[in-house]
Amino acid sequence: MPDNDTAPTYARPGAPPIGVYPVMLETAGWDDYRLLDMGEGQKLEQYGRYTLVRPEPQAMGARRLTPVVWERADAVFSGDVEEEGPGRWRFAGSVSETWDMRYGPVSYRGRFMSFRHVGVFPEQAAHWDWVNAQIRAEKQRAPDRPVKILNLFGYTGLASLLPATAGAQVTHIDASKKAIGYARENQALSGLDDLPIRWICEDAAKFVAREVRRGNTYDGIILDPPKYGRGPKGEVWDLYTSLPGLLKDLETLLAKDALFMILTAYAIRSSFVAIHELMAETLSDRGGRLESGELLIREKDGNRALSTSLFSRWSGR
Ligand SMILES: C[S@@+](CC[C@H](N)C(=O)[O-])C[C@H]1O[C@@H](n2cnc3c(N)ncnc32)[C@H](O)[C@@H]1O
Repeated sequence: MPDNDTAPTYARPGAPPIGVYPVMLETAGWDDYRLLDMGEGQKLEQYGRYTLVRPEPQAMGARRLTPVVWERADAVFSGDVEEEGPGRWRFAGSVSETWDMRYGPVSYRGRFMSFRHVGVFPEQAAHWDWVNAQIRAEKQRAPDRPVKILNLFGYTGLASLLPATAGAQVTHIDASKKAIGYARENQALSGLDDLPIRWICEDAAKFVAREVRRGNTYDGIILDPPKYGRGPKGEVWDLYTSLPGLLKDLETLLAKDALFMILTAYAIRSSFVAIHELMAETLSDRGGRLESGELLIREKDGNRALSTSLFSRWSGR
């Protein structure tokens, strides 16, 4: 068989990345996050000192814990059964507006937000750990070389703060002033104000297009785009139509010897194969490895897993 027909020979620049799927990345939780139970269209989770009940259309099976445990929850979000639908929080007793939690060196604040969110997506822990391992390995290989990370649609900043603790220089982009405020609050809460993070409130696609014009590059790119969104000046983000152009620009922003690019997609009617193929097309000249699948959360005391999103992750090394 000719050399270039064997899989390993594709792992070089100038050839498409090796494609691997399905890859299921699991999070079992940590002190401040556990999936306690799920069933009958809802999930019961522990976020720091509070237990919460939220709608979960994928939890179609039976509950394992007793009704008493579910009834003791501190807060229940009720609303549309459709993912990301509007609704409201109902509280069992007196709960504070915000509460503090921790993941490794980073502290972050929970808050009861609209659309059932509480300020953190715990399944992302699988990406946080992997990103930090990549950065640490690179720092060991070339201690003096700065590692520049771009985090798009960065929300409350965990995926910016954690890489910065591993020694990266981070540029964080989000369209919402409020979200940037929460992210900076998390930085202060963590006592990490000295870390080199640029917090920028801007439309992701616009920022990226400008960086392309400036000729800037990054060693790692993380993007967690919503299905629909708006830039600060009303710019429209629609994952299906905006993502291909954004990825094309991001390929230009990836340094020649870049470490990684990670794309996560929530609540879209699609398969991880679709985002895998789009990433493969985007990175078709780079070699390396492209793995795609879903992000899962494993129950605390059960054997069941809950899928939360699709991902596609490229590694240049
Ligand atoms: C919540 S996060 C990540 C996606 C999340 N996992 C979800 O399911 O929606 C989405 C973030 O993208 C931001 N965002 C929305 N549209 C944007 C745009 N055009 N440019 C930059 N950030 C945007 C929002 O402010 C929000 O903080």
